[in-house]
Amino acid sequence: MNILLTGGAGYIGTHTIVELFKAGHSVVVVDNFVNSHPEALKRVESIAGRQVPFVQADIRNREALEKLFSNYAIDAVINFAGLKAVGESVEKPLEYYENNMNGLFVLVDVMRKNNCKNIIFSSSATVYGDPAIIPITEDCPKGQCTNPYGWTKSMLEQVLMDIQKADHSWNVVLLRYFNPIGAHESGLIGENPNGIPNNLMPYITQTAIGIRKELGVFGNDYDTPDGTGVRDYIHVVDLARGHVAALKAIEQNKGLAIYNLGTGHGYSVLDVVKAFEKVNNMKVPYVIKPRRAGDIATCYCNPSKAKEELGWEAIYGIDEMCRDSWKFQKNNPNGYETETNSKQL
Ligand code: NAD
Ligand code: UFG
Repeated sequence: MNILLTGGAGYIGTHTIVELFKAGHSVVVVDNFVNSHPEALKRVESIAGRQVPFVQADIRNREALEKLFSNYAIDAVINFAGLKAVGESVEKPLEYYENNMNGLFVLVDVMRKNNCKNIIFSSSATVYGDPAIIPITEDCPKGQCTNPYGWTKSMLEQVLMDIQKADHSWNVVLLRYFNPIGAHESGLIGENPNGIPNNLMPYITQTAIGIRKELGVFGNDYDTPDGTGVRDYIHVVDLARGHVAALKAIEQNKGLAIYNLGTGHGYSVLDVVKAFEKVNNMKVPYVIKPRRAGDIATCYCNPSKAKEELGWEAIYGIDEMCRDSWKFQKNNPNGYETETNSKQL
């Protein structure tokens, strides 16, 4: 298939391009680089040994999208494009609602006009709120989100479900990601956060390399085995493979399909710190801090639906996640910014 990846220059998008190529698909990428760097696509090209067709545009730009659809025959779209920083979404709710919601509205409208009605949407475990069932299955009721970012995911899921309900010729696949970490084994692509990282793994790797003094562990009084928060960390390459597998739901004309993409294992913050220290043979200094507002104690999934219906399951464990996250950080202490490419920009 020929797949359009919106936001394909980002963390999950770049890894997904590599896996789509491996599986024999072709791609087109659209991105406005609001949270990514052109160098990331060059790195993908060097991993894959081929060019990545690319259009630099904002997906809210209808004209640009219409032009893209008239230049390329697109079979399906994976919509990664969106702003994703939880804390920033609380400070700038309008910017988040505007970018994430309008982006999808314009995209879906242009898709419909071009009779491309297959979409895979990047959703999140955040839609379950404080989950009613652990491990979380896809029929666990959705919950209250604690920030505007989460609400954009929850609401956009509803928008896509309503579109599919009104027109059964749409195939809508909602992928609810758990906590993606890790990087491609080459160390060429990985997570490249702007500023102070919000998420655990980039904070650990930046502490390990000396950019941050110590990791703050947000709370050790949760009702979990060691008191720190438990999450379902998934290697980004497994997550990328999950998108290739999700194309099966489109090929089979499933209509609406919802899948959890996680490993089914819960690791605490201290489990991750210990695994990172062991695998990479180094120390990560940390201090216990108060709980972070909006955090929940435990979140991990039951991933068996994706296994049964798509034949997909995660193959990497926490050790590979820690190894590959560190490899990317170590090889790219300044992320994608290098002396050569910063002069080019
Ligand atoms: P990312 O920020 O690395 O990638 C998103 C990409 O979208 C970036 O390259 C950015 O420049 C682009 N983008 C944003 N708005 C755009 C617009 N209006 N037009 C064109 N491009 C635009 O994030 P990621 O971690 O790769 O996440 C991909 C998707 O998965 C996002 O929708 C995110 O919300 C979702 N998700 C991520 C996680 C996670 O922990 N990384 C978890 C659950 C869901
Ligand atoms: N944590 C720390 N210190 C840090 C950062 C995080 O102790 O510096 C803890 C958190 O309290 C939590 C765990 O590490 O217990 C994981 O936190 P992350 O911020 O890495 O991830 P979250 O589970 O909070 O949220 C992430 C994304 C959301 C997404 C969700 C589910 O940020 O956007 O995973 O996919 F919705």
